[in-house]
Order: sequence, then C-alpha cells, then structure tokens
Amino acid sequence: MTHHPDYWNRLYEEEGRPGWDMDGATPLVPELLELAQALGLRLGCSIVVPGCGYGHDAAALEALGFAVTGLDFAPLAIQGAMQRYGDRVVWTQGDWFRTHLGPWDAVFDHTCFVAMDPGRRPAYVEACAAHLRPGGLWMAALFHDVNGRPGPPHALPMDELRTLAGASFEVLHLGAASRSHPRRAGREYLMVAKKRA
Ligand SMILES: C[S@@+](CC[C@H](N)C(=O)[O-])C[C@H]1O[C@@H](n2cnc3c(N)ncnc32)[C@H](O)[C@@H]1O
Repeated sequence: MTHHPDYWNRLYEEEGRPGWDMDGATPLVPELLELAQALGLRLGCSIVVPGCGYGHDAAALEALGFAVTGLDFAPLAIQGAMQRYGDRVVWTQGDWFRTHLGPWDAVFDHTCFVAMDPGRRPAYVEACAAHLRPGGLWMAALFHDVNGRPGPPHALPMDELRTLAGASFEVLHLGAASRSHPRRAGREYLMVAKKRA
C-alpha cells in the first residue's frame, strides 16, 4: 500500500528516523547539481523535491541558492521538515500525482521515484512532466541495485528509465553516481532529463 500516505506516515511514527533517512542531505546533491548546471540549470531557479521526507535535500538546495518547495504526502514528514529547517523552504503536504502547485523549473528526485510501486512508473513520469515548465529539468538519483531486498526502494534498470523518460523528456545525462553515501556505493546512478517543449 505504498501509494497511500498512511503507509509512510506509520513508518515515520513507529521508527522516528526510518532506515532511508540519512540525517542529512545525500552527498549526491552537489554531484547532481554540477551535472545539471552544466546542462542548463540556472542558479536561483525554482526546484521541487517530491517525497522530500524530513527535508534534508530540499534544505541543502535552498542553502545553495535555489527557490525550493519540499512536497510529501505524509504529514509527519512535513512536520519533521518544518521542525528541522523552518520556513527557508516552502513545505507542502500533497500527493505528487495530484498537486496543482507549480509548474517548477526543475525536479530534484531522490528516493521518491524508486519508492513507487513499479506499476506507477509511467504515471510518475507523466507527473514530472506535468509539474515542469517546458524545457524544465528532471534531476534524479536512482538505484539500479537494492541488494536483492523486496522494495521499496525498487531497483530501476538504467535502460528502463531511459525508455520511460523518453516519452516526455530528452535524457541529457544517465550514468553511475560517484559520490554516494558509503552504504549505497556502487548501487546508485544519476539522470538529468529535459522536458520536451
Ligand atoms: C523512501 S522515503 C524518502 C524520503 C526522502 N527523499 C529521503 O531520502 O529522506 C519516500 C518518501 O516519499 C513520500 N511519497 C511517496 N509517495 C508519494 C506521493 N505520491 N506524493 C508525495 N510523497 C510521496 C513518502 O511519504 C516518503 O516520505
């Protein structure tokens, strides 16, 4: 039932700091930003972080000079983000598939797409396209290997992502991540894709 906020909210309630939470931004924030800036991402543009959890990545992006919205449909995630980072970021409780906020210049996706049930992947790509301005960038950090564990997160092969994204995006970069957290080393990859006009 990962499509329902109660599933995630219960994990935040029971575990306080769930297994995916690294108590800080992923070290892939600067790596993904450097790639995207070389491909046209402008400093100061608007970025949405879907499935932002406790908001570490969103706050790191704001500190680097972007106008950031952190979105999550689990109330305890948004409460935790507000407690940790205050109002530097626009925090919003909402469903990525249904939000009417935006459009944004860019999406920063870390552990949200891979948390989706694989059957929802095409709809997720459509949502990314719908929430971006024409020419907007979708930045994503994904797993191609989840150590054989049942998801979420679910492994997403690079080729499959290229095909999925290709419906609405031009894939500008797709390649292995080099600055992963040690617990994730060798299992993550990065994508930067541009919404077709
Ligand atoms: C694995 S957690 C990752 C959280 C955060 N990105 C991090 O790395 O700490 C996935 C998050 O996505 C959120 N989420 C899942 N489906 C969502 C949806 N349809 N709309 C908004 N948030 C969603 C969950 O509530 C959860 O906080």
